[in-house]
Amino acid sequence: MKILVTGGAGFIGGNFIHFMAKKHPKDEIVNLDLLTYAGNLETLINVNELPNYSFVLGDISDRKFVFDLFEKEKFDVVINFAAESHVDRSITNPEVFATTNVLGTISLLDASRTYEIKRYHQISTDEVYGDLPLDRKDLFFTEETPINTSSPYSSSKASADLFALSYYRTYKLPVTVSRCSNNYGPYHFPEKLIPLIITRALDDKPLPVYGTGANVRDWLHVEDHCCAIDLIIRKGRIGEVYNIGGHNERTNLEVVKTILSILNKSDKLIRFVKDRPGHDRRYAIDASKLEKQLGWKAKYSFDEGIAQTIEWYLSNKNWWENIINGEYRKYINTQYGDCR
Ligand code: NAD
Ligand code: DAU
Repeated sequence: MKILVTGGAGFIGGNFIHFMAKKHPKDEIVNLDLLTYAGNLETLINVNELPNYSFVLGDISDRKFVFDLFEKEKFDVVINFAAESHVDRSITNPEVFATTNVLGTISLLDASRTYEIKRYHQISTDEVYGDLPLDRKDLFFTEETPINTSSPYSSSKASADLFALSYYRTYKLPVTVSRCSNNYGPYHFPEKLIPLIITRALDDKPLPVYGTGANVRDWLHVEDHCCAIDLIIRKGRIGEVYNIGGHNERTNLEVVKTILSILNKSDKLIRFVKDRPGHDRRYAIDASKLEKQLGWKAKYSFDEGIAQTIEWYLSNKNWWENIINGEYRKYINTQYGDCR
């Protein structure tokens, strides 16, 4: 099978390429990535030399470029990970989220239709459902929960998700969509909560927690996400949406304190800072459709996964120390003023 992975130099796409190289070494993978601030080829050092892996630098929203690539490569499967992925950045600069996440997805869908791709898989997010109240632990997002977005990021992802489904209904393009909860694990860019806290705690820097830290996220190890995507592209029913999540709900404060305790650092590093505008309160995924239909089950508990992740950041300082210089430093200063 020849697979186009877009956004493969990012966190989840990069992990997916590693996963596939191990699990399906005969599949051919082409990684198309624009190498924005979030793209990093150092994530792919171990797969770079494989004969059935190649990297192409380019923009998914450049239609001519995308069509030329499809004409040349004759893909069987397209998996669209490429996106602007950070909610805070979408609040300060929404426009690029529309260009990449919406127009980029449409150009991939149009090329997939023209070149009769056998499967187009859209990586969507649980954020398309909006949020749940903190005092209703009995409520979960199912695939039938109405789309009800909060941020420019989630609105752009919901739009892309609905475009993908409309191409199934209108053009019979063989589309599947997955909506996953918060991922964590190796190669996670340190603007997101877990790697931000690990890397800053290791440097004894103040740790920004938005509001009171009571917001809840449903954490899934990235390897469990990769395994679900692999199942969906092979066995998932076309035209269908699959939720992915492992029932690992934690408040942000619990997550930060867990990391501090594993690293043996003091809670005194925590700073409660101004809340994120429109901050979603709680995400919680019901993944029973994926479990029942495709036999998926998360392998990692949060306790195992977070310990493994911290170990990875301790053993791979070069990877993240290269990132936290330059452009990243400017972003952190604007976003947090270093938590003063
Ligand atoms: P990321 O920001 O780490 O990586 C995104 C990648 O896309 C980067 O390599 C970047 O260079 C590339 N990219 C950006 N714009 C591009 C363009 N115009 N053309 C080509 N490449 C471009 O993101 P991530 O956390 O790995 O998320 C991957 C996907 O999974 C996204 O679609 C995101 O919405 C979705 N998702 C993420 C999570 C999560 O917890 N991180 C959970 C659910 C869904
Ligand atoms: O749920 C899936 C989504 O998870 C993905 O679609 C997004 O691409 C991904 O970025 C993630 O979105 P979140 O906004 O939930 O992740 P983030 O790591 O930015 O924040 C997690 C929680 O931690 C959230 O409640 C905000 C809070 N937070 C975040 C940062 C960066 C803080 O308290 N302090 C911070 O400095």
